[in-house]
Amino acid sequence: MIEKQTDYGRLIIGEKMELFAEAGRLAVAAQAASPSANFTWAFTGGSTPQAWYSWAQETGAIPAEMMAQTHFTVSDERCVLLSSDESNFGNAERKLLAPSGVPVEHRHPWVVAYEPKPAAEAYRRTMQLLNPPGRAYDVCFLGMGDDAHTASFFPGSKLLEADGGLFFDAIDTPQKGWRLTITPSGLQACGLIVVMTLGAGKAAALKRVIEGEDALGDAPAKILRTCAARTVWLVDAAAAAELSA
Ligand code: 6PG
Repeated sequence: MIEKQTDYGRLIIGEKMELFAEAGRLAVAAQAASPSANFTWAFTGGSTPQAWYSWAQETGAIPAEMMAQTHFTVSDERCVLLSSDESNFGNAERKLLAPSGVPVEHRHPWVVAYEPKPAAEAYRRTMQLLNPPGRAYDVCFLGMGDDAHTASFFPGSKLLEADGGLFFDAIDTPQKGWRLTITPSGLQACGLIVVMTLGAGKAAALKRVIEGEDALGDAPAKILRTCAARTVWLVDAAAAAELSA
């Protein structure tokens, strides 16, 4: 794997399977070094995490003891039932948490039975109870869309301008409807952020985020500059194809 330092975090370029293994290693190392009584690990949405869950389940890359001790959640969520294929937590649960036997009291989905704003309030409360003050998650996995969005910060998102210091919130997004999401303040309060970005479809967006001149509102993943010291990008050659050598 090739490694570079960027203004947006450490960038590691490699093959998909090497990157999957690196994502697992980073989380395991973070847990081993963590003083947190309740180690929290947030997954995210999209196709890449789903492939990663299947890989992690098949390889047993995350030790059973860590799976049993960690508290799991997701960085952002759609307002749908857990049973929906669109549910980020539902997908994590079906592909990894349930087959690994993660105790139900360690599974923390957003409570989408509530209206979005009360759901965000309830989630903030759960995370405050789990985490020490000033911590959002110990590890947060993220992806990036081909429009350069990350978590549920889509281009033009008002959360990028101001989030009131809240770590989590609900936001009504154009075309996508209500989303529940970690905020920029929340990202800055994570111990480690791992952004998995795979495939040629991401090449132009990755170039814009890491090397381009776009405003934050046009390339929301640029928010990761504010937490570069704790961010690792795991990128395959196709996604890295437009980056300068
Ligand atoms: C979501 C995610 C979103 C995702 C990217 C990348 O719920 O969809 O929060 O930010 O991570 O769109 O998705 P892929 O893994 O499919 O590339």
